[in-house]
Amino acid sequence: MVAGPIIDSDIRKAHTLPSRYYTEDTLFSEILSTLSNSFHFAAHVSQLNENNIIPLPQLENILGEALMITKDVKIRCLSNVCTHRGMLIATKPCNSKNLKCGYHGRTFGLDGCMKNMPEFTEVENFPSDSDSLIEFPINIWNGIIFTGGERFFTSVIDEIQKRIGWMRIESFEYDKSRHRSYDINANWALYVDNYLEGFHIPFVHGDLHNVLDYDSYKTELFEGGVLQIGIANEGEAYFQLPISSPDYGQKIAAYYYWIYPGLMLNFYPWGLSVNIVNPISVDKTRIIYHGFVGEKSMLGKGAGGDLDKVEAEDQEIVEATQRGVSSKSYERGRYSPSKEKGVHYFHRILTNSINNDF
Ligand code: FES
Ligand SMILES: [Fe+2]
Repeated sequence: MVAGPIIDSDIRKAHTLPSRYYTEDTLFSEILSTLSNSFHFAAHVSQLNENNIIPLPQLENILGEALMITKDVKIRCLSNVCTHRGMLIATKPCNSKNLKCGYHGRTFGLDGCMKNMPEFTEVENFPSDSDSLIEFPINIWNGIIFTGGERFFTSVIDEIQKRIGWMRIESFEYDKSRHRSYDINANWALYVDNYLEGFHIPFVHGDLHNVLDYDSYKTELFEGGVLQIGIANEGEAYFQLPISSPDYGQKIAAYYYWIYPGLMLNFYPWGLSVNIVNPISVDKTRIIYHGFVGEKSMLGKGAGGDLDKVEAEDQEIVEATQRGVSSKSYERGRYSPSKEKGVHYFHRILTNSINNDF
């Protein structure tokens, strides 16, 4: 007998992700090793105004590389590993005309070229190409810098461009005060599951529920991601959409984009909140927030008004779900076809990544 797919393509027949995906170390590692094929958020161009060197520690375990973004006349992604004995070059964002390793003083240009090394005059065939830093590819869309693999890149960017290409995202300004980093005791996929449905909003997020029109909440799937659209309740903040927008005429309070595996781009009338879901271990996840403001007068209003409260409410749920799915008697559940399409799609991509299961 041929075994069926782990997640049936028909949501009405499907069962949810088996609990071992959230609890087994070996499955966690197997999935993690596939995530280097995907593209990942590196930075927004406005972050480089204050610091022209930004290390990317959140990509180390996913890509297996310590990387940094540098900017002189050009923006580049370089290896952050000194070619002498392997020390990290930048350990925090900084501003400098060159890159200097803090261990023994080797310096590089912002293009990665080795420039100077103390006590090396007698070394033969030095410097050679391998003494410079390796450069990695980047893609910049609308001011957002991505690095990593290519999986789903074209389909995701095409989709976002069609929908919200009118937004001047490249002119949004980095707001340091909106930066957060949370370590939670749950598997990264549980955090993503929770993000991918608005089903829980009335039960978990009382204040957010008052702002959004629950019955009009929409979920759309596209190759490599999910878009959820929150419609504003009467009197709540919404986007002033241009006629060119496919949503012109609607009172949209938020565009919530999830991009496989763990990138969330949340667009509100005030700007963009980026959430990065960084898998640390099978039951530990780091959630990183960056805020980029386009319209200051809209801060604090509507669906994107109090993100800290919504985040705290979600984390409590997700951590309790981790304990629940770790119980021996729980194996898997079923999906709501009207409310859990996004979760179903995520589980399909995830299981397909390691089992060729579509
Ligand atoms: S490890 Fe960088 S100079 Fe030695
Ligand atoms: Fe939530």
